[in-house]
Amino acid sequence: MNKDVILIVGSNGQLGTVLTEKLRLNYGAVNVIASDLYKKIGSEDNFITLDATDFKAVEEVVLKNKITQIYHLAAILSAKGEQNPLGTWDLNMKTLFNVLEVSRLHKVKKVFFPSSIAVFGENIDKENTLQSSNLTPTTVYGMSKVAGENWANYYFKKYGLDVRSLRYPGVIGYQSLPGGGTTDYAVDIFHKAVKNESFECFLDASTMLPMMYMDDVIRATLELMEADKEKLTIRTSYNIAGMSFNPEQIALSIKEYYPDFKIAYKPDFRQVIANSWPKCIDDTAARNDWNWKPEYNLNLMTKTMIENLK
Ligand code: SER
Repeated sequence: MNKDVILIVGSNGQLGTVLTEKLRLNYGAVNVIASDLYKKIGSEDNFITLDATDFKAVEEVVLKNKITQIYHLAAILSAKGEQNPLGTWDLNMKTLFNVLEVSRLHKVKKVFFPSSIAVFGENIDKENTLQSSNLTPTTVYGMSKVAGENWANYYFKKYGLDVRSLRYPGVIGYQSLPGGGTTDYAVDIFHKAVKNESFECFLDASTMLPMMYMDDVIRATLELMEADKEKLTIRTSYNIAGMSFNPEQIALSIKEYYPDFKIAYKPDFRQVIANSWPKCIDDTAARNDWNWKPEYNLNLMTKTMIENLK
């Protein structure tokens, strides 16, 4: 039987936390190995401590466990990355190279590598930003994702390694917290609201950004990974869209549940990053190639977030 054994690199993160659980439901807990730099209390089962900057360590885990699929989620995000540009480049690229190269050498069947809306920057049309837009990012994180997309495409074309990728928008879920991104406000705001606290937003009221509710993000990821290989026309990374809103709009939707909720705006350096990103994304290729369709809009997301965090 052709059994898949999956390795998740960066399983403690915002996405890794939820994706690990979902993959274990689908593939069986014994077949999904979580890994990160440290063990999180409560997630000790089938967990390996792994520093993905260490080639030998990645190789050993893959060989020992006969890994057939890797989800490589470890990265330093847009805002945090600006505090240490060269260190961010090193970490984001080194971990990706290790995953790609170990996968090539040891015939891993499929690799998932997340890209981001941070690949977009100067000289783009910010409304319905096209798949084929110019990629001139303004952050080191964005630069590492553009380079990563090209390396993914290179490994596919040159070695036939089946790398698949999505340009994630801001991800919003109740199960985990993001760390160091420009879209983090849209998660933090809910944690304040359910505690009846006011919220100070680091972006201004009208900053429209592409976002996606966690269930849609996980479903998009699994749908792409399960899609028929022949149907995939994009081997850099797919644009995907969920919803778009600005801080004022999310605050209004929260006020439906917490009428006294207060938001104040105090833009910082993250405003400049957000200003360079699209307002909304054109995801025609994802819709055509593997039938992508989001289910959550702002109101449904707000309802779900509040119900679960309360
Ligand atoms: N959510 C990410 C960030 O803000 C975008 O990929 O950095």
